[in-house]
Order: sequence, then structure tokens, then C-alpha cells
Amino acid sequence: MSAEVIKQLQEAVQFSPENVPLRLHLAQVLLQDYQYIQAEEQYRKVLELSHDNIAAQLGLARTFYHQQKYSVAIVVLEQLEHQEPDNFDALLLHCRILVKENSLEAARDLYQHMLQLNPGFRDETLDGIFRMPQQQYSAAAEDEEDEEIEKIFTLEKPEINFNDVGGMTREKQEIDLKIIKPLQFPDLYKAYGKKAGGGILLYGPPGCGKTYLARATAGQIQAEFINVGIHDVLDMWIGNSEKNLHSLFELARQSKPCVLFFDEVDALGANRTSMRNSGASHLINQFLSEMDGIAANNDNVLIIGATNAPWSLDPAFRRPGRFDRIIFVAPPDQEGREEILKIQLRNKPTEDIDYRAIAKVTAGYSGADLKAIVDLAIEDKLMEALQKGIPQPITQKELLKAAKTHKATTREWFNTARNYALYSNEAGLYDDVLKYLDIKK
Ligand SMILES: Nc1ncnc2c1ncn2[C@@H]1O[C@H](COP(=O)(O)OP(=O)(O)OP(=O)(O)O)[C@@H](O)[C@H]1O
Ligand SMILES: [Mg+2]
Repeated sequence: MSAEVIKQLQEAVQFSPENVPLRLHLAQVLLQDYQYIQAEEQYRKVLELSHDNIAAQLGLARTFYHQQKYSVAIVVLEQLEHQEPDNFDALLLHCRILVKENSLEAARDLYQHMLQLNPGFRDETLDGIFRMPQQQYSAAAEDEEDEEIEKIFTLEKPEINFNDVGGMTREKQEIDLKIIKPLQFPDLYKAYGKKAGGGILLYGPPGCGKTYLARATAGQIQAEFINVGIHDVLDMWIGNSEKNLHSLFELARQSKPCVLFFDEVDALGANRTSMRNSGASHLINQFLSEMDGIAANNDNVLIIGATNAPWSLDPAFRRPGRFDRIIFVAPPDQEGREEILKIQLRNKPTEDIDYRAIAKVTAGYSGADLKAIVDLAIEDKLMEALQKGIPQPITQKELLKAAKTHKATTREWFNTARNYALYSNEAGLYDDVLKYLDIKK
């Protein structure tokens, strides 16, 4: 939304301050433009004029949600639900907030209620969180627990290594120095009084290769890879099975060398204060001490975490020996994009491809976006081959066409990250984000 439109709306509202639909429209536009504080102000004014306005209540709750003021958001939603118990948008937002607050049981009940109201509805994230029924844990007998753990967290030996990762030179180098070399030359590190251990936290916009790089790290040193979604860990908490968390770290120790990868760590590290009453803080403390244990014993277990929201992470996670190296995984640069395209098209029939030209028109695209472009181009070609009956190589034409259809998906992330980088950049944590955005401090 352009600043011009907002300005015009603001002027119009000044002219007729009592015009509820107009003000509501301004609020909506501000919300879409990520201006949460300003949107909050406008929604509040609408509610002063029209107390029961459902749209304004919902909008206000949304602004709170985006500012992570979850408890006030719930207060507003409860009032709304009192007037309109089956307002689906309100219930969905409510459910997401409960997840953020780790009230997972309540969230699950609510989600089930929503599915009753609207059986066709599916929310991928919520589905992912609730995928594991609680019974699975309570039913598991004690001695079956280890087996259970292995079922939930599968060990894999990744077949990719650093050669399959395009660009990311700096990230690979950091991982090499910080966690691979200490593993290969423990005595050397000891001689210099440098302690091995500690974890690496990768953060950045979606699709830029965090998970992929972690997997390739394991492949690089032929280690086992355990991919742990933090929501799985939170599910353990629902199942009252704290022992499982310990077993997970044990499993990693028994399978060394091993890369233990924690995805969405922010879900676990979300300010402990907001979890204080939920019982989950318990689990977090246990998680931290398990991590300290790994660091202390130099156990040949490498810990890598990933998050899209590093600002939600409790600072306790960043202490030495824990996630003490934090790396920004940016969208690939020109050279990185060329390499990723080459990797994605490797072993596929191609003809006359000007990688540089495609990389030029895809600035800001993530690795996943580039993969999507290649997939689109292949589909295109496949259709043609089916029609004509002869297979044909993929060419520049389909790739450029696909780049026009599929746009970069990293922009929204930077809209949020920019604010944190500008206004809560403690200890220069987000300097790399500022550098990427070309903002001078
Ligand atoms: N540097 C890269 N080289 C080759 N392929 C890449 C690269 N980066 C991303 N990809 C491709 O994009 C896909 C998505 O990347 P990945 O899942 O690792 O992103 P992510 O940063 O973990 O995203 P999210 O934050 O959504 O979890 C990968 O499976 C891979 O196919
Ligand atoms: Mg990922």
C-alpha cells in the first residue's frame, strides 16, 4: 500500500472524524502495511464511536497479535466471541495466540471446535502442531520409550554436502570453523585453549536454506542428522513426558557424530515470562541444561538451530556454550543464485541456459523460490512433451517465464526484521540484516 493512499485516508478522516467506515478502512490499510501501532490507534477510535463493531474488535486483536501482546488480544477476542460465538476469523486468531502462548491443549480443543464448524477447513501450521495425538505418549509403556523416541525423531544420513549448497560461502566457513574443525582437530583446539562446543543459530527469511544447510553439514562430515521440530518437543510437554527430551539428547549422544537440528527454536525460547504459568518453562530449563551438558562434554554432537523470528528468542539461549554463534542466512546474491540454479538443474536436460541472466532478474528470491521457478519450468516443458510426444530440453524461455509468474517470498520477512534491526538491535545482533538492507547505522 502506498504511503500516498494512507496519507489521503488520514486527511479524509481528519475531515470527518466520526465516519466509522472510513476510519475502519484506514485502520485496515495501516494493518496491511504492518503499521501496527497506528492501526491499533485507529481501531480504538472506531470502537469509541461504535462499541460493538465486530470488524474493529477483530482488527484490534490482530494488531495486538502482531505486537505480541497476546493477553490483551485474548481479552478483546473473548469480548467479540461473546457477541458472535462462531466468528471463524476470531476463533482462528484465538487459536494461533494460544499456540504462541503454548496453551496447546486449549488450542487443540479450539481447533477441533473450528473443524466442527467448518469441516473443510485446514490450517497447515495448526495441523502440523497437532499432528501427534496425545495418546501416543500416555499409552507408551516405559520400556518402549526409547523406541518411541526413535519413531518420532528419525535418524538420517543425509546424502547432500556443502557441494550441493549454492552460495553461502560465509555461512559454510563459519560452520566449518566453529563446529566441524573442532570435531576433527580436538587436540589442536585444546592446545590453544579454545573450547569446542556450543551451537550455531541460523536465522533469516523462509526458504533461504537454513534447514538445507544444516542437513548438508551432517552430510559433509558423514554424521547422523536428527531433525527436531520444536513443536514436537512442546508436544512432549503436553504428553507430560519430560523424560523424552532427555532421551532425545541421549539418542544424539549414542549416534555420534551427529548433527542435532532444532527447527523453529523461537517457539521454545519465546520469552520465558510468557510461559511462566504454563509449565513449559520447566521444559525450557531442561532443554538449556541438556545443551550445556553437550557443550561441557564435547560429545561429538553438533547443535544447530534455526528460526525465522530470532527476536522472540529468550536471551538465555544465546549464552556461551548454547547458541553462541548467530548467523544471518540472507537470500542468495547474484553468484549464489547462479549456483543454486545450476544445482537445481543438475542432471536435468537443458539447453543454452544463461544462468547469469536469470540470476539477474531474480534478486531477492530465496533458494526455495529458485527451486519453484525450476519446477514451474519443468512442468511447462513436461506438458509440451506430452502434447508433442517428444521430450525437449528446458530452455531459457521457460525459466524466464516462470520467474515472471513466481515472485520472491522474502519481502514480508524483511518488513518485520527491519523494525527489530533498527529499534532493538542489542549488541549489534542484527547488523547483518541492516547491511543487507543497505541501511547505515
Ligand atoms: N543455497 C542453496 N543451494 C541449493 N538449494 C537451496 C539453497 N537454499 C535453498 N535451497 C532449496 O530451497 C529449499 C528450501 O530451503 P530450506 O527449507 O532449507 O529453507 P529454510 O531457510 O529452512 O526455510 P524455513 O525458514 O521456511 O524453514 C531447499 O530444500 C533447497 O531445495
Ligand atoms: Mg527450515
